[in-house]
Amino acid sequence: MTGLPWQARLRDRFASLFGAGGRPLVAVAPGRVNLIGEHTDYNDGWVLPMAIDRCAGVAAAVRPGGTLRAHAVAFSETREVAIDELEPPGGAHWLSYVAGVAWAMRSAGLEVPGADLVLDGDVPLGSGLSSSAAVEMAVARALCALAGAPWEPLAMARLGQRVEGEFVGVKGGMMDQYTAVFGRAGHALLLDCRTLEAEAVPLPEPAAVVVMDTGAPRSLAGSAYNERSRSCRLAVDAIRTLSPEVRALRDVDEALLERTRGRLSEVELKRARHVVAENRRPLAMAAALARSDLAAAGRLMNDSHASLRELYEVSSRELDLFTELARRHPACFGARLTGAGFGGCAIALVEASAAEGFMEEVHAGYRARVDLPSAVFACRPAAGARLLEG
Ligand code: GLA
Repeated sequence: MTGLPWQARLRDRFASLFGAGGRPLVAVAPGRVNLIGEHTDYNDGWVLPMAIDRCAGVAAAVRPGGTLRAHAVAFSETREVAIDELEPPGGAHWLSYVAGVAWAMRSAGLEVPGADLVLDGDVPLGSGLSSSAAVEMAVARALCALAGAPWEPLAMARLGQRVEGEFVGVKGGMMDQYTAVFGRAGHALLLDCRTLEAEAVPLPEPAAVVVMDTGAPRSLAGSAYNERSRSCRLAVDAIRTLSPEVRALRDVDEALLERTRGRLSEVELKRARHVVAENRRPLAMAAALARSDLAAAGRLMNDSHASLRELYEVSSRELDLFTELARRHPACFGARLTGAGFGGCAIALVEASAAEGFMEEVHAGYRARVDLPSAVFACRPAAGARLLEG
C-alpha cells in the first residue's frame, strides 16, 4: 500500500460506514493530462494524453439485495440506489458516475451485484484532470471484480463513454476513459481515436510535466462543450456536400477546408481550422519527444494553446495568465490548457531539474493576480485502472 496517502482513509471510512464484515477490495484509476491534441478525440483524430499519479479509488464489497450503497468522501454523502431501477439521465451529480456505470454494465448484459462502495482519491474534482473518467473506471474495475467478471479494458472504456454521453449528458470522446484504463508508467499514449490503437511514447528523463490548476470552476455538462462538438458535426455536414467521403474533421486538410469555406459559417470555419491543425500536433509532439527535442515539443504546446484561445475559444483569462507566466520562466519549454478548457487546468513542460523553482515562482505570480484556490504540482505518467493488493 505504498504511495497513496488517502488509501488508509478510504479503508477506515469503509469500515466505519459499512463494515463489520470482511475487508473490501480496493480499485483505483488515474486522472490524466493531455499533452496535446485537444478537442480532436470526438473528431476521430489523434491525442497524446498521459495518466497521472493521482487516482480515484473505490473500496467495495458485495452486499445482499439489489442495491448499491455509495459514499463519497469528498462530499460526505451516502446514497442508495436500486440497480434494476437505474435509468438515464442522472445528470452531473457524483452519484451518476457510479450509478451510470452500473446501468451501462447491465445494458451490456453484465451482472452487477449489490454492493457497498466508498469513493475517495486525490484527483482534483472538476478541474479538467478527468476525475469523472477516473471514478467511472475505478467503479467499473471494482464491480467487475465483485461480479467475478473478466476485466476488459477497451470494453470498459467504451462503456464509460456511454455513461458520460447518456447518463451524465456530455457527448465526449474516448480519450479520458481510454487513458484511465490503458495508462502506462513513464509513458504518454499516442492514441488514434478512430482505430483506438495507441503507441506508448516515453517521456524523456529531463522533462517534467507541471499542472497549473487555475482554481476557476468549470462545468462540462450542459456547457459549451456540446456546442463545440455540434459545430464540428455541422462543419463535416457542410464539407460532405462537396467531398462525401469525409466522415469526420480528421479526414479534412487545409486545402479541402479552403475549397469548402463558403459552405461553412464563420464559427464552424474557425472550429474546423483548429481541429485540422491540432490533429497533426500529437504526431509531431510524439516525434519531438522521441528525439528528446523538448524545445520543439514546447513550441507545439504553445501553438496549441493559441489555437484553442483564438479559434476554438475555450481558454479563459486565468488559463491565459498561467500559461503566459509559465512561458516567461526560463525552465519552461511550453505551456497550454489541458482538457476541455473553460477554466480548469493548464500544463507546462519544464526542465525537471528546475521544476521546484518553476512551480514556486509561477504560482506566486499567479496568486499575486488571482484570488482563487489555485494549485501547482508536478505529475508523473502512471499506470491505468487496477486492483490494489492487501
Ligand atoms: C474533455 C472530454 C474529452 C476531450 C477533451 C478535449 O476532457 O472528456 O473526451 O474531448 O475534453 O480534448
